[in-house]
Amino acid sequence: MTSDALHPVPRPRRLRGTAAVRDLVAETRLHARNLVLPLFVKEDLSDPRPIAAMPGVVQHSLASLRKAVREAADAGIGGVMLFAVPNRKDATGSQADRPDGILQRAIGEAVAEAGDALVVMSDLCLDEFTDHGHCGVLDAEGRVDNDATLERYAAMAVAQASAGVHMVGPSGMMDGQVAVIRAALDGAGFTDVSILAYTAKYASAFYGPFRDAVESELRGDRRTYQMDPANAAEAVRELRLDLAEGADLVMVKPAMAYLDVLRTVADRCDVPVAAYQVSGELAMVEAAAARGWLDRDRAIRETLTSIRRAGATVILTYWAAEVARELTA
Ligand code: PBG
Repeated sequence: MTSDALHPVPRPRRLRGTAAVRDLVAETRLHARNLVLPLFVKEDLSDPRPIAAMPGVVQHSLASLRKAVREAADAGIGGVMLFAVPNRKDATGSQADRPDGILQRAIGEAVAEAGDALVVMSDLCLDEFTDHGHCGVLDAEGRVDNDATLERYAAMAVAQASAGVHMVGPSGMMDGQVAVIRAALDGAGFTDVSILAYTAKYASAFYGPFRDAVESELRGDRRTYQMDPANAAEAVRELRLDLAEGADLVMVKPAMAYLDVLRTVADRCDVPVAAYQVSGELAMVEAAAARGWLDRDRAIRETLTSIRRAGATVILTYWAAEVARELTA
């Protein structure tokens, strides 16, 4: 057969003809051990409580958290990221660094249950703990006070490490947060506790459902500290700073709307890169699937594969345990 416009010689379809050949040449694969499950725990809750805008996700009691950590470890995932909702919120988030605070107790339970079977991580931010809902403390004019917030983060880091956490995740986007946390941890002897830095965290509409999960009523918005969705070069600058300050891993968040940023970050650093598939990304897929508008399981796989393809080694996703079970089945 001679080649002409109707009979091409190059035929990329040859490598798509069977599942076997597609699998053989797949460039990107998901691994259960790279997935991290975010978990919410609420103080004094007796039974898990569903979160309306996050189908399949609940606020845990300490007891049900323990069970969820066990199931996550059995599913073979790589880690859990803990968020806690305290009973009492105030201007400085005073519950955040108490040894008996709900997040520290949750860390204790998770570490006791999982041991070294997975990496126990905790959110290091004030928004769950403040009555105004901001990620830091406010100055007299009501602005988020960067340096006063750093002092709170340092205290939180030591409290979380004392409770046994393996890795802390500073998510507040304060300048200098990684350096101050590293210094606080090292100063208290926790040189082995690592830092998953939220390097490029954008002021995103896709965090909407999360506010339900942590019962945060935010006054104003976070645009004076989280990044403008318009910016990508700024992520490179944040990356440079976080690496210089001692970040062990760097993260981009949200994931799907920022795959270009993820690729840029992955190309420019030599530490592991993580991405956070946030609450609104879950809600979008779940809501459309509930209406029969898209194939839920395929959509979930496709989103995670694209995040990995864009350069994330580690993926935080609310579907972690479910997907891990399928991957290892
Ligand atoms: C802040 C924090 C937020 C999320 C994770 N950490 C909320 C915010 O920055 O507004 C969002 C996670 C999600 O939407 O799934 N501590």
